Amino acid sequence: MRKDQLPIPFYSHGITMAPMAGVTDSAFRRICLRLGATCLVTEMVTAAGLSRKSVKTKKMLRYHPDEQPLGVQLFGAKPDDFARASDLVTPLGFKFIDINAGCPVKRVLRSGSGSSLLGDIPRLLEIVRVTKENTDLPVTVKIRLGLTREEPVPDSIGELVADAGACAIAVHGRFRTDFFSGDVDKEGIRRIAELSPVPVIANGDSTSVEAALRLRDETGSTGLLIGRGAWGNPWIFRGIAGGNPHPEPGELHTVIMKQLSMMMELIPEPQVFHIFRGHLVQYFRGFHGAADFRRRAVGTESYKEVDIIAGEADIAMHTSLEDV
Ligand SMILES: Cc1cc2nc3c(=O)[nH]c(=O)nc-3n(C[C@H](O)[C@H](O)[C@H](O)COP(=O)(O)O)c2cc1C
Repeated sequence: MRKDQLPIPFYSHGITMAPMAGVTDSAFRRICLRLGATCLVTEMVTAAGLSRKSVKTKKMLRYHPDEQPLGVQLFGAKPDDFARASDLVTPLGFKFIDINAGCPVKRVLRSGSGSSLLGDIPRLLEIVRVTKENTDLPVTVKIRLGLTREEPVPDSIGELVADAGACAIAVHGRFRTDFFSGDVDKEGIRRIAELSPVPVIANGDSTSVEAALRLRDETGSTGLLIGRGAWGNPWIFRGIAGGNPHPEPGELHTVIMKQLSMMMELIPEPQVFHIFRGHLVQYFRGFHGAADFRRRAVGTESYKEVDIIAGEADIAMHTSLEDV
């Protein structure tokens, strides 16, 4: 697979909503798609759980037919688990399988999964190989720049994963020890992109349209993965595509209510409000009075309450934008 062969252009050359456990649920993924994301990825799903045929894990593979193109992300440590898991997910309609080699969370590291694989590249490559052998779907890998600044992955990592069977590599420009803070090392991504025979998707701190485009252009990457910058601000996708990066008058309200309605079709009350409140507070940022709306949002327990707060926030947001 070389850069000019593009089995999944919507990912390799697109603007994808980054997988975010506990955030990128089905409803939010569909909102991102409507607002211009070219591709979606599930939250990370345990390969060991799928391998054991855990009912709880299999539930994480559920998605709505509108959520396409959608990739499934697997995490794990054992090649055998990936073999069985890729066998299981292949017939389910996903467009590609992504291997998580970037997660820095302790629980994940303890099992040797996520970014632990960056300290054992032969194991990572074996996982890519075995996954590819057990699926006819394209396989991709998501990495960080290494465990620590002193232990970076080789700049030739793109070639290594490509030889093992991957058709694209996403690079979060941080080290495991950085977790999610500190500056993104664009130069580190650029060095990998320069040598990679397969498309590189840049990731990290795309908090505005300008930051996202700079990240892509300054690293020589072909695609972008947008994480936290899209949470509460899915309009960033429309902005990157050249449209309005802000909600139109009335749009904050309608998008919030659409997302809640979609979530209510899948999750019963009252749990749905516990989960939705986490999204709601994210929508109330960057305008005069936003802190008050966040305070009110954490107490919402009904569709009607959300409707009232979202409507008022929409007016407050646009009034404060007019003031600027
Ligand atoms: C709450 C949260 C959950 C995440 N879950 C995942 C995950 O399941 N799989 C994954 O590969 N990365 C996960 N990430 C990392 C993001 O995909 C992304 O790489 C990271 O946030 C950096 O991009 P950003 O600066 O645009 O947010 C998560 C990040 C956050 C903040």
